[in-house]
Amino acid sequence: MQAFDSAYEQLAGHFRRIGQLGEIEAVVEWDQAVNMPAAAGPARAAAVANLAFMRHELLVQPRVADWIENAKAQRDLGTWELANLQEAERLFLRARAIPAALVEASAVADKTCEQAWRRYRGENNFTDFAPYLEKVVALKREVAQALADTLGVDPYDALVDEYEPGASRATIDSVFVPLREFLPSFAEEVIERQRGTKIVQPTGPFSVPDQRALGLRLMAASGFDTNRGRLDVSHHPFCGGVPGDVRITTRYDEQDFTSGLMGVLHEAGHGKYEQGLPQQWEHQPVGAARGMVLHESQSLLQEMQVCRSPEFLEFAAPLFRRAFAVRAESEPAAFSLANLQALYLRVKPSLIRVDADEVTYPAHVILRYEIERDLIDGSLCVSELPEVWDAGMKSLLGLNTAGDDKNGCMQDVHWPSGAFGYFPLYTLGAVAAAQLYSSAKAASPQIPEAIRQGDFAPLNAWLAANVWSRASSVSTQQLLVDATGSELAPTCFIEHLKNRYLGS
Ligand code: CO
Repeated sequence: MQAFDSAYEQLAGHFRRIGQLGEIEAVVEWDQAVNMPAAAGPARAAAVANLAFMRHELLVQPRVADWIENAKAQRDLGTWELANLQEAERLFLRARAIPAALVEASAVADKTCEQAWRRYRGENNFTDFAPYLEKVVALKREVAQALADTLGVDPYDALVDEYEPGASRATIDSVFVPLREFLPSFAEEVIERQRGTKIVQPTGPFSVPDQRALGLRLMAASGFDTNRGRLDVSHHPFCGGVPGDVRITTRYDEQDFTSGLMGVLHEAGHGKYEQGLPQQWEHQPVGAARGMVLHESQSLLQEMQVCRSPEFLEFAAPLFRRAFAVRAESEPAAFSLANLQALYLRVKPSLIRVDADEVTYPAHVILRYEIERDLIDGSLCVSELPEVWDAGMKSLLGLNTAGDDKNGCMQDVHWPSGAFGYFPLYTLGAVAAAQLYSSAKAASPQIPEAIRQGDFAPLNAWLAANVWSRASSVSTQQLLVDATGSELAPTCFIEHLKNRYLGS
């Protein structure tokens, strides 16, 4: 007699194929950002688009709906299988919700707008850029509406849900309303406090091979497994690839080693999450990272909570001095522990989000969230962007951006490339990071002392058990409740900032 596969097993087999196509796509996209000669761009873009199209085709096949329905009737599925079925259905419903013609029109508008952005941003020319962004927003509203109809949620929430399943404006507001209240006066107090501290910027050059060697050393200390991942260089740092083959990148500034190094540690934090996902669920929907909030929480826990702490810098400072021995000998003050700490905790309002410190970063995010939410619900139009941006920057950070759209509302690639609902998750990730690190230390009080020795094992053991190994088997909120005793809340983040910057 021939054994036959159950509906669940056929569904799982189908998702394995989809996952393996996605694996190739991820590695090829890494190649595009790291190795590919510029002239290969158009052909590569077409090939990658075709791979994405094939994955979409496989996902929306009618037999997927049949397998899902039949698998639901199976009585032999365990907790993880049931969670996998639920995730498979979520992906299927989302993929099927948007008509193919709309998917394509939206993708073309995004691509065209991104190209226009590259041209007009350089010229600080918002007027000629605006029509392209208007097109993107109009189509994004249609996409959001189609998703909202299927998922039974608000259109903006349907966009957020793509990056962070289950999150909504209510989730975001529960964090942003208290932060908007707390941060502006807190930032002023910190800046006032730091005014007296003299900071010496170490002067380069710091050779790229020296920086890379140090980055590899610290990333290995943090527990990133280089047998299942690698470090390279790209224009914008990212963490790509797949769990068994994680590709992280950074960029080096020969005059300033501090930022490239934190870039490595940030991306390694993302990479450790991927590497810690359960291998037996590889390529299955339930085996994937839960969403952007937990992903960013893992990079920020490592970068902000751990690697900017006095414990970590005590471990790292001698390694910095050894790596850049010639510079360190000629300017010992710049390489002192106190100076390195001050450098890594300097708070300074800036126009550019990606250069922002931990205290002022949320202001950049809150502004973008309020704007994109209003763009999607139609209460704001694209032509009003520069004005609204300037007013927001004045009220949140006291900075003037009038006439400087290049460093104002045109600075990020997100909106021109069609990513709406993404920005708020950076700050939700920072908040989750503070919450998780606080619980990790409560559960394993030896963590800070171990970090001082360069030993990440106690921290990684807690993260593996409470975050990484759970993959997408539960929601983000449930995972946080299980790991920290509460849903996402800004309390720990605010406490962390007060402790670190005001010592109270
Ligand atoms: Co990140």
